[in-house]
Amino acid sequence: METLDPQDVATYPLSKRLKQATQWQHDSVERSMSALRPFESRDGYVRLLTVQYGFQRYMMAFYRDAALVEWIPDLPERCRYSDTRRDCEDLGIDLAALDAQCPPALPLSSPAALGWLYVNEGSNLGAAFLFNSAVELGMSESFGARHLAPRETGRGLHWRTFTRYLDAIPLSDSEKAWAIAGARDAFVHVESLARPLAHISNE
Ligand code: HEM
Repeated sequence: METLDPQDVATYPLSKRLKQATQWQHDSVERSMSALRPFESRDGYVRLLTVQYGFQRYMMAFYRDAALVEWIPDLPERCRYSDTRRDCEDLGIDLAALDAQCPPALPLSSPAALGWLYVNEGSNLGAAFLFNSAVELGMSESFGARHLAPRETGRGLHWRTFTRYLDAIPLSDSEKAWAIAGARDAFVHVESLARPLAHISNE
């Protein structure tokens, strides 16, 4: 990802501050996802999908939260849980077993939840690369890779609309700090989903 100058960050809008504060975590998660060797085989892709499903399932409640929807009106339509679930069904993944392993989402303050949303919405940008590789494995926007497919409006506009809403939310400095802590926790959560599967990919 592009690097921001830390000197200027305090003056940046929240979306940019979140980016700066989590850049190294993004790079680490990117490495962890690559360690799943997701595009070498269908089994590898199932590992990636398992991580995505765990994260989308955990995030589901955030997209229905009335206080968050007030700030981000198109939030419910942004939720990728159903698409990810159908992708898993396409590939015959045992969802009952996965569901049994998924912890319920912990209640969070709204500012912290914004940080989690930033991480999940931002992951749509990198999904462009993942989608293209998934297509080479036989996946498509109607089979196995629905959750990675671009939205009708295009990824760029979809993301800019989100950051416009995010950056317009009136938050105090301490609430912004909560948002940053939320984004950090979200990346930690994704890592915790990916790491155990990386061992399987090396067996
Ligand atoms: C192999 C896996 C991944 C690759 C190759 C990747 C790659 C990328 C790339 C290239 C961008 C910048 C796109 C642009 O600016 O147009 C990006 C942005 C982003 N990615 Fe990833 N990514 C991966 C996984 C993830 C995951 C698992 C998450 C979180 C769940 C994530 C969260 C983000 C966020 C939040 C941004 C937006 C950063 C910003 O501009 O504020 N990425 N990713």
